[in-house]
Amino acid sequence: MSEIKKLVGFLFEKNYIVTPEVLKSVPSDFNFDIFYENVGSTMKRQDKGVVFDKSLLFVEEDEVKTNLKIVWNYDKEPGKVEVKDFVTYYKNRYNQLKKILMQREGLQGCVSISRALRKGSDEVVSIIGFVYNVGITKSGHIMLELEDPTGKIKVLLSNKNKELMELGKEIVHDEVIGVSGGTGSDIIFARDVYLPDIALKEYKKCADDVNVVFAADMHIGSTLFIPEDFERFVKWLNMEYGDEEQKEIAKKVKYLFFAGDIVDGVGIYPGHEKETNITDIVEQYNVCFDYISRIRKDIKIVICGGNHDALRLSEPQPALNREFAAKLYSLPNVHMVTNPSIINIHAVDGFVGFDVLLYHGMGFDYYVNNVDYIRNNGGYDRADLMMEFLLKKRHLCPTHIAGLSMPDIESDPLVIEQVPDFFVSGHMHHDVLVGNYKNVCLVGCGSFQSMSSFQEKMGHENIIPSKVPIINLKTRKIKVLDFSETD
Ligand SMILES: [Fe+2]
Repeated sequence: MSEIKKLVGFLFEKNYIVTPEVLKSVPSDFNFDIFYENVGSTMKRQDKGVVFDKSLLFVEEDEVKTNLKIVWNYDKEPGKVEVKDFVTYYKNRYNQLKKILMQREGLQGCVSISRALRKGSDEVVSIIGFVYNVGITKSGHIMLELEDPTGKIKVLLSNKNKELMELGKEIVHDEVIGVSGGTGSDIIFARDVYLPDIALKEYKKCADDVNVVFAADMHIGSTLFIPEDFERFVKWLNMEYGDEEQKEIAKKVKYLFFAGDIVDGVGIYPGHEKETNITDIVEQYNVCFDYISRIRKDIKIVICGGNHDALRLSEPQPALNREFAAKLYSLPNVHMVTNPSIINIHAVDGFVGFDVLLYHGMGFDYYVNNVDYIRNNGGYDRADLMMEFLLKKRHLCPTHIAGLSMPDIESDPLVIEQVPDFFVSGHMHHDVLVGNYKNVCLVGCGSFQSMSSFQEKMGHENIIPSKVPIINLKTRKIKVLDFSETD
């Protein structure tokens, strides 16, 4: 029996009031450290002793062992950034992606660009470089300019090679790719183009019948946040809403992720104040606490920030501000992480668990608008295409102007070095979408906010709030629940 279960059972008899006398009679094998770690924040001191808030305690009948570990979290302190740091940052990115690309057979003998430039005509060569430029020639070929630390070279993708042309249409500025082909005068005529991409991932299933839930973009504090729907979601997690089947699904939920934009923030876009009903950031997070604190304590909750949260915009974004979100930090089952981060869930009884890459996705707007392949196949409705695109590039935001990045001088934290089991994002606010790319489960979370004037102006047409995907870790079956439905 767990420590919590033991003491809660004990406290039921004592009306949740722990006086010094009661403490004397607590069983001698009781582990207070584990107990405080889990329910410490639910306690209030009163004259007569320590009182537990009964509504905050929850003990499940058949307890399933759960486990959550933060595998990767950005832990650097903010500091002064200089131009040379960006140079180091991009060199690091190049080396990290080059290492991945050099595992490809066709690139193992690759040479530097300066060496490729010195080759005579009609030699076969392979290189790895940043995409410095990409365009279409008058004759309809794709012309790239690749750059590495030694120089720049033009690369032509012939319009006669349909496969290369299809691949070329997805190439964006600043991504790192490999090319092999025949040399000309200061040019390579590409025969193959290599993206870092990922290998087929093992499709894992665990033995326990447990569920994980993914949500994002509540935007608490906005007049467009839909409290009734979020309230239904919280009640459902506590098995107080829904039909019997839905309550049964809720009962199995052990992990819950929030992929950013927890609150609406203040002054994010022009005229934002007209669409905000809580103008104090602390109050926005406090209202969030009022919801999250009511969720069953046996559900492990992970929260990262987004571009609306009170954080710097440069990625990686730190975890939510400890001062502004102090009440959320006090919750024993809440784990605050950076954007992005990697979290391992349910590594129990010899099972390695599932790695979840959590990333809000501020740069998605750029790619929806600039990559034909994404735009012409559904744009904002296709979070799966967006995430597949990024996995192929092995980078969360390859194009410099697509987002803001904090230049890390040790390594580029936005390179997808570790391939996850789940890639989870928010930001789009369109319909929930769960896809699959080489066995990586791609989860585009929905929101709990109606369309804002800014989104309308940006051309969004299909904002569908209040839907939440639930994935069973034993069967990998996906269920989407809609909390906008009224009783
Ligand atoms: Fe959002």
